[in-house]
Amino acid sequence: MGSFNQDPFISETLSINGEALSGSRLFKINCVGCHGISAQGFVGPDLHEATQEMSDKKIINQVIRGLTPPMPSFEIEPKSMADLLAYMHSLN
Ligand code: HEC
Repeated sequence: MGSFNQDPFISETLSINGEALSGSRLFKINCVGCHGISAQGFVGPDLHEATQEMSDKKIINQVIRGLTPPMPSFEIEPKSMADLLAYMHSLN
């Protein structure tokens, strides 16, 4: 877990104050096809509890690494990732 904790993308993302509104826009463009228009779940799981069940680091990893096909990996800026996280935190 050492290298995971020192991941520069993750630490940069966590240092940014994300904006949920911008995150919801990014979510509509990239994620609703699988997670549903209001993140209620579709092909992918309901994400309303995601920030309670997973650490922010795990969620970032989930989005940028593509470890769990069919969910693809996303190449995004830390700011966009922080916005997406803020959106997901706003869901619960
Ligand atoms: C092609 C379909 C697809 C797209 C697009 C997609 N996902 Fe997923 N996502 C999945 C699937 C399927 C899973 C479940 C993977 C597994 O079995 O662990 C998942 C799991 C997740 C999880 C973990 C949830 C949990 O409770 O385990 C998070 C968080 C997540 N996705 C966020 C996102 C975000 C944010 C986006 C947009 C940037 C996105 N996903 C786009 C299909 C998708």
